[in-house]
Amino acid sequence: MTQQLRAGMVGMGMIFDETYRPFFEKARAAGLYDRRFGDVDVQLAAVATKTGKRADAYLQSAGEKIHRFQNFVGDHAAQEMVKAGVDFACVATPDDRHFAASKAVLESGAHLLVEKPSVLKLQELDELVALAQQKGLLAKVVYHKLLDPDHKKLRTFVHDGVFQHVNNGYCSLLEPKQISGAQFSEWITGRNPGTYVACHYIKLIDFTFGGRLKTVTASGQRGIVGPKHGTTWDSTQMKMIYEYADGREAAFDIHTSWVTPDNFPGYVEQEVQFRFDNGIWNAHSRKRGIECTVEGLTPTKLKTTMNTHYNGTFVEPWGERSQRGYGIEVLERFAREVSYVEFAGDKNQRTERLNEMRALAYNDLASDRQTVAAVQALEAILAKAAAGHPDCVVRVNDARGGLVLYQPGSPEPDVLYGPRV
Ligand SMILES: NC(=O)c1ccc[n+]([C@@H]2O[C@H](COP(=O)([O-])OP(=O)(O)OC[C@H]3O[C@@H](n4cnc5c(N)ncnc54)[C@H](O)[C@@H]3O)[C@@H](O)[C@H]2O)c1
Repeated sequence: MTQQLRAGMVGMGMIFDETYRPFFEKARAAGLYDRRFGDVDVQLAAVATKTGKRADAYLQSAGEKIHRFQNFVGDHAAQEMVKAGVDFACVATPDDRHFAASKAVLESGAHLLVEKPSVLKLQELDELVALAQQKGLLAKVVYHKLLDPDHKKLRTFVHDGVFQHVNNGYCSLLEPKQISGAQFSEWITGRNPGTYVACHYIKLIDFTFGGRLKTVTASGQRGIVGPKHGTTWDSTQMKMIYEYADGREAAFDIHTSWVTPDNFPGYVEQEVQFRFDNGIWNAHSRKRGIECTVEGLTPTKLKTTMNTHYNGTFVEPWGERSQRGYGIEVLERFAREVSYVEFAGDKNQRTERLNEMRALAYNDLASDRQTVAAVQALEAILAKAAAGHPDCVVRVNDARGGLVLYQPGSPEPDVLYGPRV
């Protein structure tokens, strides 16, 4: 008998089209197989979006490539969608709308996969983790850069002791202006590129090097996406200080922007450098890869430096057309984790399997604490700056609380989160 997982999808924007769509289409065509759980039929059963237009257009254009899913529309579409009955649901709405949809998914008894950053506050994270625990469900987050082969090699070297003790480093990610100006115009007001993409590197640093987050500072610039004194940010620079078990510290700078000129050849330019006691790691998404020019197509219609590791469309050597890369692999991996919990053996051993999958720190929400803490700190520092109070510092787990914001010249700190992070 074929086992089945009915899936829900909240949000069908850019990331749905890039990664979820090819994942669901491939799963429909080929199924999901593992010797431990057998053949699993993954079916996109229901979707929830603001207007339903993209979902309708996709149903029309995809034809037989996708199951005839139900289409829910409006601000409460996620809450309606889960009533259709799904086994797991993916949340890919704008980042400040992750929490409500994720809560609805878990409350309905479905496993959750939410886009990065999972949520914007530790208070929200606590609620989702408690819900998942209480309902016996997986609650996981997508940080696909952990599956980038270059980042996996870095982590393997750290794990194996080839690199000894990280001391400091920097990461930068530059998005083109079309992202802030056109793609995200519906929801970008009051938002910043740090929360949107620095979280990838916060997680990479947190997961790869471990340690305890101590301090977060941040600055940013305004005036292109929105007014120069407003709450919408063009670019941000954050610094995190970590402390390790031996008492030594490391510092990391993460620079992000979504106002890079559209014709810059490094479309989504990504760079990291980490320095260790005994070595240095330099990785550059553009320099590792392709440089391609086609008259009339690059760099706008076709990318000059496409990242085929993340996501590429190919004619395979055996003739088949495919779309593959770590951006898709990470979603399939989650569906395999759900299949393992539900189908890989006796029902009475489900809790053991559930706990085994929950222990995977790379994507479990319970392991996302320091990343969410850094995002919450960044958001609070930028909000203070926009309100005329720049240069605030957030300290983690000090005498006054778990996440405490200090404002220059103000005697009383703001406790953003009371319990220990
Ligand atoms: N993994 C990655 O590298 C990556 C890349 C891009 C985006 N993302 C993440 O994916 C999420 C979505 O980004 P995007 O680029 O697809 O954005 P987008 O603006 O292209 O699409 C957002 C989608 O959410 C829907 N939506 C908005 N509010 C909703 C609500 N209340 N209920 C239901 N649907 C709602 C919209 O209708 C739209 O379909 C963000 O969290 C972003 O951080 C991740």
